[in-house]
Amino acid sequence: MKSISTMMMKGGSGKTTLIRVLASAALAKNMKVHLIDMDTDPQASDWPERFRTAPWGNLEKPEWPSDKLTVAGPPTTIEELYEIIAQKEGEGCDLFLIDTRPGAHQDTEDLILATDLVLIPTRPEQADFKKAEQTVEWFAAIVDTLENAADAPQMRTVLTAVQSKMMAVLTGDLDISALNPRDREVLDAIASLPHASTIIPYSKYWIEIAAWGPLSIAADAAAAQSSGKLTARNMRDQIAAAEALLDELLATVPEPEEA
Ligand SMILES: Nc1ncnc2c1ncn2[C@@H]1O[C@H](COP(=O)(O)OP(=O)(O)O)[C@@H](O)[C@H]1O
Ligand SMILES: [Mg+2]
Repeated sequence: MKSISTMMMKGGSGKTTLIRVLASAALAKNMKVHLIDMDTDPQASDWPERFRTAPWGNLEKPEWPSDKLTVAGPPTTIEELYEIIAQKEGEGCDLFLIDTRPGAHQDTEDLILATDLVLIPTRPEQADFKKAEQTVEWFAAIVDTLENAADAPQMRTVLTAVQSKMMAVLTGDLDISALNPRDREVLDAIASLPHASTIIPYSKYWIEIAAWGPLSIAADAAAAQSSGKLTARNMRDQIAAAEALLDELLATVPEPEEA
């Protein structure tokens, strides 16, 4: 089992969405996932319930895949978190995800240290980027408190909600001169941070992810219905990008040494 957490001093930067993108990708790869939601906002903490109550128009909604994806609220202590991690690993869980709350909290510091990889999501915009840089510094300060630096999790910034023009520049399809100077400055700043090279595009499917549930399940359900073929195809484009991101991120986590 590998574990991933998010941290970001600023709210609305895409933490919860990023965690759901990764859960969607993991289910597409037939992995078993457990998600811990530390967000105190009840709007955010109830993905299965939001999915169950969301209208799906003329598409038929499947059951929540509770054998593959379990979601739980915050543990009361950090000791309890370590117990849950051990328990889930014992149950054959492949991926353990923790969505933290915004801001610089002590509990976030403890949580991220329990995981293998820490993600700092950021939109390619000045305001987010400054906060991402500060969050990278915050991460470094936490690692500095460790007795053994080898115990530190890996860390990556992840660009999310990237609009098509910047996407085209990042993929090399469009020259950087097509961007305005402010966006070019953001791109330079991105390059200087330890970022994942896979990017999450701006997509209505990620905006609506609470309602769709894990997107791979939604895509399968849509594909099985004649009125859902196009939706399924569009969803699968997003899932392909999400899987590429998950593959890249999991590869940053060293395999545990053989006993
Ligand atoms: N890849 C994306 N494409 C489109 N909208 C996004 C994307 N990622 C995040 N958003 C939107 O940005 C807002 C904040 O995202 P959220 O994941 O809730 O941030 P956080 O958990 O950091 O507060 C939400 O409205 C969400 O739908
Ligand atoms: Mg959130």
